[in-house]
Amino acid sequence: MESMPRLVVMASGNGSNAQAVIDACADGRLPARVVALVSDRVDAKALRRADAAGLPSVHVGKRADETRADYDARLADVVSGFDPDWIVLAGWMRILTMSFLGWFPGMVVNLHPALPGELPGTHAIERAFTEAREGTRTRSGVMVHLVPDEGVDDGPVLATAEVPILPTDTLDEFEARVHAVEHQLLVATLHELCRTRVTHGATR
Ligand code: GAR
Repeated sequence: MESMPRLVVMASGNGSNAQAVIDACADGRLPARVVALVSDRVDAKALRRADAAGLPSVHVGKRADETRADYDARLADVVSGFDPDWIVLAGWMRILTMSFLGWFPGMVVNLHPALPGELPGTHAIERAFTEAREGTRTRSGVMVHLVPDEGVDDGPVLATAEVPILPTDTLDEFEARVHAVEHQLLVATLHELCRTRVTHGATR
């Protein structure tokens, strides 16, 4: 247990992907340990999911009088305190600046519900669905990538999966299929990372 890779999961909202990672660690499918769930939102359901699993949950909210860089430095302090091997952005909805990322080179992994180069930012699932209904798209997808810098949903790609948008789909049906693919792809990618690469912790 002690020698298993240590994951800090960061999430801003519902946390269904965080839950997938927590469950996979708990039942042995993912040989890693979630050492903390960190959220920028005090009301994030993801925090409650960690509580329910008996894992440390930490809210780090941005203060009104704080710059983004100062907030990110404070966040980096909290996260590095958990001595992570990997930091997993699972529905983390703030752009991280280098004052966070600079401390964790090659260690930050992001999940995004679109294929590389397509639909960065928020509401990617809804935007893909709208484009499909307008006749300009028949599929979207999911990717997991490293986060080297402040590029939004951009960085070296670790894994992708396409998700078709069926003519009969409602938005809810398409969204449910995207999330199901995300849950599987995120766990599979982390499995591969934990198996093949050892990081050396924060550089602070
Ligand atoms: C997921 O679809 C994730 O890919 C997306 O937020 C959702 C969180 O769902 N992330 C982004 O859009 C990042 N730009 P969850 O809270 O149920 O895991």
